[in-house]
Amino acid sequence: MDIDVSAWLNLALRWLHLIAGISWIGASFYFVWLDNHLRPAKQPKAGMGGEVWSVHGGGFYHKQKYLVAPEEMPEELHWFKWEAYTTWLSGFALLVLIYYVSADVYLIDRGKVILSQGQAIIFGLSMLIAGWLIYDGLCRSSIGQNVILFGSIWFAVLTLAAYLMVQVFSDRGAFIHIGAVIGTVMVGNVFLVIIPNQRKVVDTLAAGGDPDPKLGQQAKQRSVHNNYMTLPVLFTMISLHYPMIVGHPQNWLLLAGISAVGVSIRHFFNLRHTGQIRYEYMAGGVAGFVAVMIYAATFQSAGRPVVAEADVTSANAQSIVIRHCANCHASAPTHPDFDAPPGDIALEDAAAIKQYANQIFEQAVATDLMPLGNETGMTDEERALLGQWIKSGAATQASISNRSGHAHE
Ligand code: HEC
Repeated sequence: MDIDVSAWLNLALRWLHLIAGISWIGASFYFVWLDNHLRPAKQPKAGMGGEVWSVHGGGFYHKQKYLVAPEEMPEELHWFKWEAYTTWLSGFALLVLIYYVSADVYLIDRGKVILSQGQAIIFGLSMLIAGWLIYDGLCRSSIGQNVILFGSIWFAVLTLAAYLMVQVFSDRGAFIHIGAVIGTVMVGNVFLVIIPNQRKVVDTLAAGGDPDPKLGQQAKQRSVHNNYMTLPVLFTMISLHYPMIVGHPQNWLLLAGISAVGVSIRHFFNLRHTGQIRYEYMAGGVAGFVAVMIYAATFQSAGRPVVAEADVTSANAQSIVIRHCANCHASAPTHPDFDAPPGDIALEDAAAIKQYANQIFEQAVATDLMPLGNETGMTDEERALLGQWIKSGAATQASISNRSGHAHE
């Protein structure tokens, strides 16, 4: 029996991360919805801030919010925290398992900065810690009182961090790290501010005292920030599927653009919950998305050298792929980190290379995403040759005959 433990651990952690993340974000979206839909209570009790009626799953729900607290503490009080903690713990474990254990493949890019595994890990962890310290410092300063000013500065800090990280790390390593920085800040808010403050309020009330209103205000501030960071952090987590963004020469700028789109769309929904329909925020988000798309397209594969036609032969193109891809992308990879072809894509023979021509173009011509970390030192000329060969149609013609070949099997 041959079990690839790290692959199964990867699956278990990723599944858990996704489930915990959905539970956390789902609950947090629900409470934002709830808060924004509260209307003055028809028969208010002391301390009641508002109420809302809803129907779901065959029953009616009547929720009431107490602004500081009810006169009497309920016997059973539910807290929402483990969803956030589990999301962070599983995400951090994945970061370590993939990007730190196999830093040489996923995190370090020899075309950028040649780091040792230890240096890469220290740089990555420093970004997570620095992210929290800067964010928390800004929140506690007077800037934290002004939502727009705070948001603009924090957005600029994150964009700068993204710029810095794409200079140092592989593109995918940088994108995952910026997601981890935002995610860490969001969970830090829950763990270090929101929950401890709520705990103090509950304890003070239980002891018959008057809780400090600042505790609630601080928790609210962090909660509002988390709400606006949600869409950007979710994008970073799926971004690796989109080479046209992650592999773009100005990928950090596209990331900032997509994040702004997310904030604008979130704002539209936050306002809509309160009964204000402000289509300009939705339209702004959509227009921003289109702008990102157009910007990404205009720069694609620009800047590759032109290779002499005579060199653009199938034999040359295939030998480039075998040289730079087949150590990993083979049914039995020779690369020590892989036991099976990554993504189930083997690129060992002419038929397979033609079959995957479009993906090869996407990953190694339009962008430099493959070979991972450019371990084999694939050159611009080789990428250009491969691109010209694929564009010349040699690949497409073959893939059509391939397909009919399959039909006859
Ligand atoms: C060091 C090992 C390695 C080398 C060398 C390598 N790849 Fe990959 N490739 C991977 C891994 C790992 C993945 C899966 C990435 C992931 O988890 O998303 C992958 C995924 C892919 C995918 C699928 C991408 C997707 O998300 O659908 C394509 C296409 C691809 N590689 C093409 C190439 C080409 C073309 C080359 C050579 C120019 C190459 N690779 C060289 C490791 C490698």
